[in-house]
Amino acid sequence: MKSLSQLPTDPAFVQNPYSFYERARALGDLVYWDDYTHICATSYAAVNHFLRDKNWGREIPSEFVEPIPTRIQPFMNIEEHSMLELDPPRHTKLRNSVLRSFTSTRIKSLKPDIEILANNLIDCFDNTPDLLPAFCTPIPITIIARLIGAPESDAPLLLDWSHKMVTMYQASRTSADEDTAASASADFAAYLTDLQTERMKRPQQDLLSALLTVSATKLSGPELTSTCILLLNAGHEATVHALANATKTFLETGTKPTDTSIEETLRYDPPLHLFERHAKSDVEAFGYRFKRGDTVACLLASANRDPANFLAPETFQPERTRNTHFSFGQGIHFCLGAPLARLELQIALKTLFKRCPNMRLIEQPSYTNSYHFHGLAALKVSI
Ligand code: HEM
Repeated sequence: MKSLSQLPTDPAFVQNPYSFYERARALGDLVYWDDYTHICATSYAAVNHFLRDKNWGREIPSEFVEPIPTRIQPFMNIEEHSMLELDPPRHTKLRNSVLRSFTSTRIKSLKPDIEILANNLIDCFDNTPDLLPAFCTPIPITIIARLIGAPESDAPLLLDWSHKMVTMYQASRTSADEDTAASASADFAAYLTDLQTERMKRPQQDLLSALLTVSATKLSGPELTSTCILLLNAGHEATVHALANATKTFLETGTKPTDTSIEETLRYDPPLHLFERHAKSDVEAFGYRFKRGDTVACLLASANRDPANFLAPETFQPERTRNTHFSFGQGIHFCLGAPLARLELQIALKTLFKRCPNMRLIEQPSYTNSYHFHGLAALKVSI
């Protein structure tokens, strides 16, 4: 296997990781990224394989799990019951419990709410808004809070806890970040326990009340708390960045949002680029013999630009129809919120461009210095 170098914290790389991906793919389906100390799947075929193959999972085999420092235990208490971190059978149980309540009818019923919210936010724009705080951030958190049944007035609190928790996925995190993430996890869990008690007394037409009904037979208290936190965090972090990255692409290319072009923004500049899988047994793939416990980092955004699967992959093609990208993952962990994310993107972006037909970028937007969340720090436009 060939290796290549690239500091994951290098600002130029974080701004544009796509040229690194091109270099990586040229070296093979699998490469060793030495600064990141990981074997990476770079091609469409390889990413597809590791996300789907049953020999690979999210759980690190027990004999390789390192002891967890007690100070980050509150964060691990949430991770330990998160479907995103689990393999079957626990993954299947948790995912099915949510799917029972996360129906397409329930999702579609949110359409008018998203439209009203988008219009209300646009009504409040000044002449040169920063679309990140003014539009992209409030929509996903308000909608997911409403869906779960957390009071919308708590949105700033939920955003704060979520931002603190996701620093745990960053290559550049410090031990102070870890402490902050742990205390945010404890506060978030306590908040949800209170909300569960409240909903047990007075059930509402929300997902939490529906999950509590399921939980009477299936989910433990910690599983329910962890599931709600996952939905709240996953439900907005990626969608905020997907909204902003898509708006940037439309403005830079002078194109407009349609269902097809929005899907192309997800392929072209997705918010999440890397997810890991661990070998459950000794297994061979792409000419390499892996040992149980080995880790492969699946580079979703690299696979999205593999010329073996996409015509002119480096070009944004708003009419692209054959577009089986990996931005929502693949296999058993395929994004559970993809229908909701697509609905939010379609309604919010179409409303924004319809209401603001002369919108222009007034400064070159730059990405935050986190590789794990490929999202903009600001998106200043004139209306
Ligand atoms: C554009 C926005 C979004 C993107 C790009 C995105 C991306 C992803 C990806 C790549 C995965 C798979 C991770 C893996 O295979 O290890 C995933 C899983 C997940 N996503 Fe999303 N997501 C988005 C929005 C949402 C929303 C709105 C929700 C919730 C309502 C959500 C909930 C989840 C959950 C619960 C999982 C775990 C599924 C499982 O483990 O079975 N996501 N997402």
